Amino acid sequence: MSTPCRCRKAVTPAAEVFAANCVACHGEDGKGKKDVGAPDLTDNHWIHGGDRQSIYTTVYAGRQGHMPHWGTRLSPLDIKMLAVYVHTLGGEAP
Ligand code: HEC
Repeated sequence: MSTPCRCRKAVTPAAEVFAANCVACHGEDGKGKKDVGAPDLTDNHWIHGGDRQSIYTTVYAGRQGHMPHWGTRLSPLDIKMLAVYVHTLGGEAP
């Protein structure tokens, strides 16, 4: 019996971080839930900017309309990967 490689465990894939923290409001497919006011992240309409830096700032610091801030709950690396992930949901190249 070989020991399973742990190297891939060091970083949680962004899709998993998204599934654990974001789907409650933004939906499994990232299309948003109107009843909580969470916007569709898969269209190319952005309230706060759809470039990776803007998405990072949104996730890190939160936004006024009840988007929580994650800077104290997720690592900077997780947020960076989420920004790339959300950016690609919006149909942009990674
Ligand atoms: C409690 C519900 C809730 C959760 C959980 C949540 N969001 Fe949001 N999110 C919102 C709301 C509401 C907005 C709209 C903010 C506004 O209109 O100013 C928003 C906005 C955003 C935006 C900006 C969209 C735009 O058009 O500019 C991004 C990006 C985003 N969320 C990503 C995430 C990510 C990534 C996570 C998980 C780490 C997450 N959200 C978790 C409610 C949530």
